[in-house]
Amino acid sequence: MTILIEQSAELGSQVEEQKCNSDTKELVLDGGFVLPKSVSQDGFVAPEINTFGKSFRDYDAQSERQKTVEEFYRLQQINQTYDFVKRMREEYGKLNKIEMSIWECCELVNEVVDDSDPDLDEPQIEHLLQTAEAIRKDYPNEDWLHLTALIHDLGKILLLPIFGELPQWAVVGDTFPLGCAFDESNVHHKYFKENPDYKNPAYNTKNGIYTEGCGLNNVAMSWGHDDYMYLVAKKNGTTLPPAALFIIRYHSFYPLHKAGAYTYLMNEEDVENLKWLKIFNKYDLYSKSKVRIDVEKVKPYYQFLIDKYFPSKLRW
Ligand SMILES: [Fe+2]
Ligand SMILES: [Fe+2]
Repeated sequence: MTILIEQSAELGSQVEEQKCNSDTKELVLDGGFVLPKSVSQDGFVAPEINTFGKSFRDYDAQSERQKTVEEFYRLQQINQTYDFVKRMREEYGKLNKIEMSIWECCELVNEVVDDSDPDLDEPQIEHLLQTAEAIRKDYPNEDWLHLTALIHDLGKILLLPIFGELPQWAVVGDTFPLGCAFDESNVHHKYFKENPDYKNPAYNTKNGIYTEGCGLNNVAMSWGHDDYMYLVAKKNGTTLPPAALFIIRYHSFYPLHKAGAYTYLMNEEDVENLKWLKIFNKYDLYSKSKVRIDVEKVKPYYQFLIDKYFPSKLRW
């Protein structure tokens, strides 16, 4: 099956920069919520500088990158339609691209450059391990959460040629539901007006094709590394708990965990899982700091967790 998607000449977006409020100098997390610098509710002490020696998400809103950011949102919001995400789920859900272990994928994802991330000048594996190690320190007994952190961004391999080299707008950035009205909390939501679904009466009411409280599991989300990694984990029979799968699947769903939008689609299980997602999201940004990880030193621990929760080889 051939998937036709519009390729952008400017895939290098700085999507998440949008989330910085440069007036207040607040930290805006990868998960989207705003916290004052230094100590969060749980007493987690956040580093104040990233690997460039700059504050997280500290940027000039008027910078030239701004245009690229907006272009990213434009392409994403025009092209992520209900039909598109259905096709992508069907195609990538076949998991017929390659067979490899979780650790092999950690090494493969190192080849990915996520242009949307201004704080990251380290290999992806360092970001993954920094996130995991930071959570491990504060939640030593939740080993499933350590492993979840390690694998949460592995879906970015969709950017690589072997996976079809999807454009950035189909891999990274915020995610949102399709099949119901686009919420105004989506950044630059004005571009949704150019999305074919915007004028479709089946999709443009508050509930759209859904019923209130139907559960996020029944909602089609925009396609990206989140949903792909969820499919990989689920279809390869992981024994990770539901909260782990929820974190992997919705960690870029900023309109939900930042703005509290779309909550009417959630069921009770989602409400419970969202608590863990909010914990996780704090570490997803804060871990992008100067704390260097000795990969070889921590690898045996994570290999133990991989063996505990996954088969030795997975289909991707
Ligand atoms: Fe991510
Ligand atoms: Fe991440």
